[in-house]
Amino acid sequence: MSLQDFLSSLDSLVADASRAFEACSDADTLEEARVQYLGQKSGALRDIQKQMGGIDPADRKTAGMQLNQSKTAIQDAFNEAKSRLGQNEDGGIDSTFDPSLPGHHPVLGHVHPITQTIEHLMEIMGRMGFEAAEGPEVEDPWHNFVALNIPEDHPARDPLDNFYLATAGKGSVPGEEGSQLLRSQTSTVQIRVMEDKQPPIRVISLGRVYRPDAPDATHFPMFHQMEGLLVDRNVTMANLKTVLRVFAENYLGTDVEIRFRPSFFPFTEPSVEVDFYWNGNWVEFGGAGMVDPNVFEAVGYDPDEYSGFAFGLGVERLCMRRHGITDIRDLYSGDLRFLKQF
Ligand code: PHE
Repeated sequence: MSLQDFLSSLDSLVADASRAFEACSDADTLEEARVQYLGQKSGALRDIQKQMGGIDPADRKTAGMQLNQSKTAIQDAFNEAKSRLGQNEDGGIDSTFDPSLPGHHPVLGHVHPITQTIEHLMEIMGRMGFEAAEGPEVEDPWHNFVALNIPEDHPARDPLDNFYLATAGKGSVPGEEGSQLLRSQTSTVQIRVMEDKQPPIRVISLGRVYRPDAPDATHFPMFHQMEGLLVDRNVTMANLKTVLRVFAENYLGTDVEIRFRPSFFPFTEPSVEVDFYWNGNWVEFGGAGMVDPNVFEAVGYDPDEYSGFAFGLGVERLCMRRHGITDIRDLYSGDLRFLKQF
């Protein structure tokens, strides 16, 4: 082949390849064109390169230089088409991708309404000097019953009213020493706090309790209580009522009223049911009373020296009233259409 022919076929190859790359409208056709012109095995450039052997040795240098220039020109044309189609040198990035756009908003979760309520209650009670205390959800009969003055034969200890755990071996008889249960009330934390330190005491405990109730609009086998305990010298029922009134006014609104109805709890004497007047109705929110001397004795406090009050309010009930929720099951359904409203 003459040098002249060689050079002119290179020229037309550069022209053909550039046109072909320019005409490509997507990555696939561009790749096809690349193989056709620049392919290592049987690309058109490669074919022409093979002709070099037939050129007069005196002309080979010129031919080689021109070949390299043509190769660069075709490569440039390819790179241009590639970036026009939105692929960077590494390939693969779509031309429609604009990293400066805001993009999709990830769906963020948020705090569950009961947790929000717990935080709010802690904040209100904290302002009155009540510190948060905690106790385990798996309890022993001492903390759930015995120290709270609930005797062996008390109906509250009935296996049908409690979630006893299947513990093996000795002491596995439900309700007896050595057995374990999911606490049925946060009053357990009263005992744990008093076993731990000396008066004065001013704590609240917010947490889960468990009772084998069939779920309906107002019952659920797991719910939350806010337990309060204040122990000092000369504590009175008036102190109890004031604390609960200030609490209710802060949580439910200044127009709320409070009412005590006589009741009975083994761990308080006297005992009351606590009602708040709310939106035209008296609603029961929990129980309260003055700490029973037997409870003080169980934890080693001198009942002649110390007095105190305790209360236990239903957290779900407070949350439901405040937010107009009518079915407790909604709180634990996991239904985002419900939960997203809070
Ligand atoms: N523990 C009682 C209940 O679960 C409530 C309560 C707490 C009553 C503290 C009096 C004092 O019903």
